Amino acid sequence: MTADEKMKRASIGLLGYGTVGSSVYRLLDEQSIEIAQATGASAGVKRILVRDISIPRSDAPAELFSDDFDELVEDEDISIIVELIGGIEPALEYVTRALEAGKAVVTANKQLLSQKGSYLFDLARRNETMIRFEASVAGAIPIIKVISESMVAADFTSIYGIVNGTTNYILTEMMRTGARYGDALARAQEWGYAEADPTEDISGKDAAAKMAILASIAFHSEVSLDDVACVGIEDISELDIAYARDFGMTLKLLGVAKLYDGRINVRVYPALLDREHPLASVNGAYNAVFLKGNSIDEVMLSGPGAGGIETASAVVGDIVSIMARPVAGRLDYPRTHNGLELFPDDEVVSTFYLRLEVDDEPGVLAQISQVFGEHEVSIESVLQKGRGQHAELVMVFHPVAEKSFGAALKGISGLPVVKGRPAPIRVERDSE
Ligand code: NAP
Ligand code: HSE
Repeated sequence: MTADEKMKRASIGLLGYGTVGSSVYRLLDEQSIEIAQATGASAGVKRILVRDISIPRSDAPAELFSDDFDELVEDEDISIIVELIGGIEPALEYVTRALEAGKAVVTANKQLLSQKGSYLFDLARRNETMIRFEASVAGAIPIIKVISESMVAADFTSIYGIVNGTTNYILTEMMRTGARYGDALARAQEWGYAEADPTEDISGKDAAAKMAILASIAFHSEVSLDDVACVGIEDISELDIAYARDFGMTLKLLGVAKLYDGRINVRVYPALLDREHPLASVNGAYNAVFLKGNSIDEVMLSGPGAGGIETASAVVGDIVSIMARPVAGRLDYPRTHNGLELFPDDEVVSTFYLRLEVDDEPGVLAQISQVFGEHEVSIESVLQKGRGQHAELVMVFHPVAEKSFGAALKGISGLPVVKGRPAPIRVERDSE
């Protein structure tokens, strides 16, 4: 049977029936007429892989469920495997075996793609099939297609992204309602935004994986998860949130991928944004990707970045793309012809905010200023508040090379008058 013939009725093997998997099943059913209109064929789930088939599941009949991947991969009628398990293993093994069997793969698994993407794309190419991964970045927003197809001539220079719905939801709740961190995280988990292990979200690793994928396809170069330094939101305190509000700023977990002299730097960190910044008004579980390129000036896309049905919409879009074009073409693989090198993190010039708890006694500010001065770090403003025996210093600095700031911070941390571990936050003043 040819690939075209198989797609007259696309039989799907679904791996995982959790938040996203169950929504994909429902959406394929609810949107069957639209899918048939768009592709001239029908799509149906033939088998669903889960760990425990004894658990009753809503919507899908019990006989569809299996705990044996062989049943799906050896079924010649199944032409598309949709991987919605998450994590590296066994997802890697299953996707590998599906591609080797010549099946097309759809996945929302950013960890898998950011660590094993080049191996899997090469495998797909060799087996003349494809992997589509729209849902792996920014949920319902069609950012992969936009970057790799619609904006293929954009000549990108930078990408700023709010690409993790869980942390954006938590920070928004803390800023808007004064919610406590733990309560906001619990609600994000209830809504189905968080990963099975929410430390992936909180630590910035989920966003780092997504930024690695975006940078790879935008700059046509290999960027993997290991190339992306990330700082999460674990050290953000309610005091930082209060200061951000006082300064007329907002706090976001930001992914930044930028070209510096033809080299790429990709990082994830919490950042204070001016209220006028295009990303400042992206709230809750919404994501946004702000693109700059020599041919496009600035373009921003925003929308739901997490959630079952929202993510399922992108997965179904990928299934439809495969059904409409079952034979892989050049656009189906990320291209890495530029082979750009990485720009070192400590050479990036950034603006920092720093909150320090210090002894409330004469000469403390002078000691701290001296250390910063020795490293040529220039203070833009200082605010001091007494807090019992201690004082709180809130400092904002002029733009400085991260290497110098890091060295100064090390010096400051060693001063006996400084209490606790200083946790600086970067400031993004505009869209530069
Ligand atoms: P989830 O709710 O935890 O569901 C995972 C599903 O995979 C469950 O049905 C589970 O089976 C099954 N599973 C896990 N390990 C398995 C194994 N070893 N063998 C067979 N089945 C296994 O996860 P999710 O939120 O739907 O996320 C799925 C993927 O989508 C992940 O890659 C995630 O990063 C990505 N994603 C999620 C969202 C979101 O908003 N949730 C958005 C974008 C992308 P049991 O039910 O038997 O445990
Ligand atoms: N846990 C992820 C997030 C799901 O919160 O953004 C979407 O990839």
